[in-house]
Amino acid sequence: MQNEFGGIWTETKIEILEKYASAYLYIMNNQNFHLTYFDGFAGSGEIKIGNVKDFKVIEGAAQKVVGIAIPRSFDIYYFVEKDEEKKLLLELALKIKRPTNNVFVVAEDCNDVLKRLASYLRENSFRKALVFLDPFGMNLDWTSIELLKGLGVDLWILSPTGVGANRLLKRDLNISEAWWQRLEKFFGVNREIIKTSIYDEEVVTDLFGPRKVITKSTKANDKLFEIYSKKLMTVFELVSEPYIIVNSNNSLMYHFFCASNNASAIKIANDLVRIHNKKKT
Ligand SMILES: C[S@@+](CC[C@H](N)C(=O)[O-])C[C@H]1O[C@@H](n2cnc3c(N)ncnc32)[C@H](O)[C@@H]1O
Repeated sequence: MQNEFGGIWTETKIEILEKYASAYLYIMNNQNFHLTYFDGFAGSGEIKIGNVKDFKVIEGAAQKVVGIAIPRSFDIYYFVEKDEEKKLLLELALKIKRPTNNVFVVAEDCNDVLKRLASYLRENSFRKALVFLDPFGMNLDWTSIELLKGLGVDLWILSPTGVGANRLLKRDLNISEAWWQRLEKFFGVNREIIKTSIYDEEVVTDLFGPRKVITKSTKANDKLFEIYSKKLMTVFELVSEPYIIVNSNNSLMYHFFCASNNASAIKIANDLVRIHNKKKT
């Protein structure tokens, strides 16, 4: 079993991450830090690109990153994949690719393991980590990210802005309590902040009297990204521009971007994102 089908953008996302990881290892090569690579939604090791009738199989991000050895590799690799079957496949693929004893794969919820990562990094300031969080949907909790505040972490994150959050925000504001709770858990903000940013409510009076008219912003995806990146800037000093992932109808699906406390990290991230955003146009 592999991950669900990905589009061409899946390859680009992995390419951006791989290039960033290489640059990271070059920069860290002459510094005396202990480096962890952490992937919280690691997959099975392989991804099918295309559709049932016409697809190719590529290496997932985990295989790509463990394959980087020049000028150095990470000291520890830690992969989290909730699905037991995928976890076993990934473990096997990584054993072949990097038969060393510094690669760990666990079948757990990423939100739980991020807590352990944060404590581990907090114990010693020489520990730094490159963290990749690549969920399909809104299964990452804000409280898990918040724990990374003040740590030597560069984070690459896939935000399901269009396929997750925006889909829950119904045009007529008829949003169930469960969905509001999910949105609040993901963004780490109160629903009022989301509501006032995305919706306009006005009272219109006609012949039959006053009625409330609700208008959803046509820029909802941009506004959601703004809410999330602003929130991330309460944890990290800087956030990069996003690599914009759209579907074949040009509808926004995801934002992929980097957060860090290091200006050079964000410069490299912005360069990578700009190159790949430009390639699409
Ligand atoms: C988009 S895929 C990851 C693809 C992977 N980055 C790659 O390059 O191959 C997301 C994965 O996260 C796993 N997953 C979903 N919820 C999770 C959670 N709460 N904790 C850990 N893994 C989870 C899914 O089983 C799925 O394999």
